[in-house]
Amino acid sequence: MSEFVTVASTNDIEENKALVKNVDGMSVLVCQTGGEFLAVENRCSHQNKPLAEGRIRNGYIFCPVHGMRFRLSTGEAIGQLTDQPIRVFESRVVDEQIQLRI
Ligand code: FES
Repeated sequence: MSEFVTVASTNDIEENKALVKNVDGMSVLVCQTGGEFLAVENRCSHQNKPLAEGRIRNGYIFCPVHGMRFRLSTGEAIGQLTDQPIRVFESRVVDEQIQLRI
C-alpha cells in the first residue's frame, strides 16, 4: 500500500476552495469544505473535464462544465448526466500539513 505524501499546508486552502496539485503525474484537487480537507481526482466522470473551477459547497463540488454534483467524501455522482463516481483519495492532516494516499 502506498504511503501518505504531503501536498499542501492547511493554510493554503480556504473554506470552500480548492488547490490543484500534481501527484504522481495525476491532477488532484485538494479541497476544504466544512473544515475538512478532502481530495479527488481533478476530472469529471461525465466528459473527463477538469473540476478545478467548480463551486464547492457543503461537501459537494459542482462540475463547471455541465453542473453535475459530486460528494467530495465519497465521489458519489448526483445528477442526470452520469452515475459514475469521481475518484477520491484518502487524506489526513498532520501538523497542519495535508497528506494524501494516492
Ligand atoms: S463534464 Fe462535468 S458534468 Fe459534463
